[in-house]
Amino acid sequence: MKKKEIKKIPVIINCDTGIDDAVALMLAVKSGVLDIKLITTDVGNVEPVRAAKNTLNILELVGAPDIPVAAGDGKPLEKERPRVAVHGNGGLGEYVFEKNSRRLLSDDAVDAMANTLNESDERVTIICLSPTTNLAKLIKKHKECLDKIERIVLMAGTIEDVEKDEMPYPEFNVATDPEAGEVVIKSGIKLEIVPMEMGHTAYLDWEDVFKTKIENHTGSVLEVVFRSYKDRHVKNGIATHDGCAVAYVTNPELFETSPVCASVKYYESIKTGVLVMDFKKKPNALTCTKINIPKFKKLYFKMLEKCK
Ligand code: RIB
Ligand code: CA
Repeated sequence: MKKKEIKKIPVIINCDTGIDDAVALMLAVKSGVLDIKLITTDVGNVEPVRAAKNTLNILELVGAPDIPVAAGDGKPLEKERPRVAVHGNGGLGEYVFEKNSRRLLSDDAVDAMANTLNESDERVTIICLSPTTNLAKLIKKHKECLDKIERIVLMAGTIEDVEKDEMPYPEFNVATDPEAGEVVIKSGIKLEIVPMEMGHTAYLDWEDVFKTKIENHTGSVLEVVFRSYKDRHVKNGIATHDGCAVAYVTNPELFETSPVCASVKYYESIKTGVLVMDFKKKPNALTCTKINIPKFKKLYFKMLEKCK
């Protein structure tokens, strides 16, 4: 009997390929349910061109078809904020990838996004695994294509309970370019948030990392890459922030969600802005509140088994 053709979800992935971005890209490629039209790289873990080269290496590693990759210009929307190297020097730790023939698109990421959206005959989900600088520039510069965006799924922020005047943890993807985060929130584009608690609870423990290493060549590469991941919240394993954001699109049944009022609040003490999520105010977004950890890990290992 002919296998039923599934309708794939059209997506653009905006990332700053670092270590958890790499796992996310692999989950996206191997999920079999995403039509990945474009991958763009943004201000973030490493410079966008470096992140784009890391992305090409990951696509080569997982034998992905020639998904176009375009690098952002690396300039924040308004001002530079300090960034800490959590993903090793080059963004993928110390692993040295074999040379490959893949090349970046000559287009800047923002123009590539606009072209992709304008040419698409269906609305596209944007999965953002990094600061939202490219998205903010797209919203400001290419209003003609915004009705082609189905929703933005954004890995960002925290849902931890804080006292009224206490500052929430300054999660990297918004704190790196808070003005860009504000543009996305105020754009009115449907926003679904995957906060850091997902990647902190569905982390890969050391047994998972060992199982990864012995699974296959791809797993052995990942294990080397994982050695450089320094997420201060996860001491006994590897945080999976961005992988959870992709899983939210491919397998939403793994998550519980709640409407939330998302905003950016600036704090002089840290000279940047923080994503604040308030469940008591009028909602303007949806946030994940819980992830099914065993099912997420099953998804991860099912992905890995499909690699070489
Ligand atoms: O705070 C976690 C986020 O910051 C992840 O996307 C990680 O890759 C870094 O970009
Ligand atoms: Ca990221």
